[in-house]
Amino acid sequence: MNEWSLAPDGALRGRLRVPGDKSISHRAILFNALARGPARVRNLLASDDPKATMDAVRAMGAVVEPDGDALIVRPPARLTEPKDVIDCGNSGTTIRLLAGVCAAQPFHSVLTGDGSLRRRPMKRVVEPLRRMGARIDGRADGAQAPISIRGGSLHMVQHDLPVPSAQVKSACLLAGLQTGVAIREPRLSRDHTERMLAKMGVTLRRAPDGWLVALPVEHLDPVDVDVPGDISAAAFWLVAGAIVPGSEIYLENVGINPTRAGVLDALDRMGASVQVFKKEGGAEPVADLLVRFGPLIGTRIDGDLALRCIDELPILAVAAAFAEGETVIADAAELRVKESDRIAQMAAGLRTLGIEVEERPDGMVIQGGRPAGPGICDATGDHRIAMSFAVAARATPGGVTIRGADAVSSSYPGFRTDLESLRA
Ligand code: S3P
Repeated sequence: MNEWSLAPDGALRGRLRVPGDKSISHRAILFNALARGPARVRNLLASDDPKATMDAVRAMGAVVEPDGDALIVRPPARLTEPKDVIDCGNSGTTIRLLAGVCAAQPFHSVLTGDGSLRRRPMKRVVEPLRRMGARIDGRADGAQAPISIRGGSLHMVQHDLPVPSAQVKSACLLAGLQTGVAIREPRLSRDHTERMLAKMGVTLRRAPDGWLVALPVEHLDPVDVDVPGDISAAAFWLVAGAIVPGSEIYLENVGINPTRAGVLDALDRMGASVQVFKKEGGAEPVADLLVRFGPLIGTRIDGDLALRCIDELPILAVAAAFAEGETVIADAAELRVKESDRIAQMAAGLRTLGIEVEERPDGMVIQGGRPAGPGICDATGDHRIAMSFAVAARATPGGVTIRGADAVSSSYPGFRTDLESLRA
């Protein structure tokens, strides 16, 4: 198991181009594998999670190959039955979106993943797909992977989802491409799928009462995608810049889709100095971001804001540990069923730094202060926990030891190199 021992090493200064957005990378590969012609994808995130999606579409007949500085996705005329179980690795987005695709195919597929993924809830996606007519079995009656999907001709269904989830919404939209589908979420989750499918010729209507209606399509038009930088990766540098004395970090070309960019609002509330330089974007808005070190104050992150920065809450908890006063994170029970139980993991790690943390079922209360360390964190199976504590280490006098740091390969294999490139 890979272990990192990191400690303060001066100010973090420099320019970074963070890797491509993970959510958009998955979609660019998967949706184009269903289209009626080839498409080019630039700046795709080269990490384990999108690779799992790439391998999955290859297993069903698509060709994905390098083409200059891009990748080209060549869809088959029709997806074919995979000859083996599809291993989605650590990637929740792969297994849930793929479940939607497989539900609409007239063949049998079996989807599984690593130990972390096999513990994560699948009922949320299995139940709506069963309602549409797919036959799905799995461990604990489909509550956990492996899941076996016998798809085929589905029917149009209205889904009133109990939990806002872009993965479940996307699975339903993909399953419903031929039949049409209506979906309502209690709050709007990230909308990358809607934006990309609209570019591919799907007619989507959002009603004032929250229903999203997708009309049936005969085929998807291929779409070239230039993947913006991942705001979830940028978030580590935004917090690093804010908490390490003397730091100044410039981040190029980061996606700032409003359904995703809650971290910018949360840091603004905490008094962080982050400048946003908006740029011309395509379907997704992008900006350069400049962060400078400065004092932070505690805040409350809940409701819609918590949803818009759900993946950034671990690193925001680190920001809170270095802020003056109390930070409350609420309405984020979903954190307990991510790659790890992120509430428990963050609370345990922050306590080893000397920070008082109260765990709640749907979040935590952090008393900010001066983390002293030496800290210790077990990040096994969870990339975002590893990177959060690597950032904390750079501002903790006693440093932090991170076990299972190789988890960063899910979303940011070059994280350590980028961290070391930021020098005074
Ligand atoms: C994602 C949606 C979110 C997010 C995950 C990626 C996506 O999960 O936490 O990292 O790409 O659709 P949920 O759909 O479970 O909210």
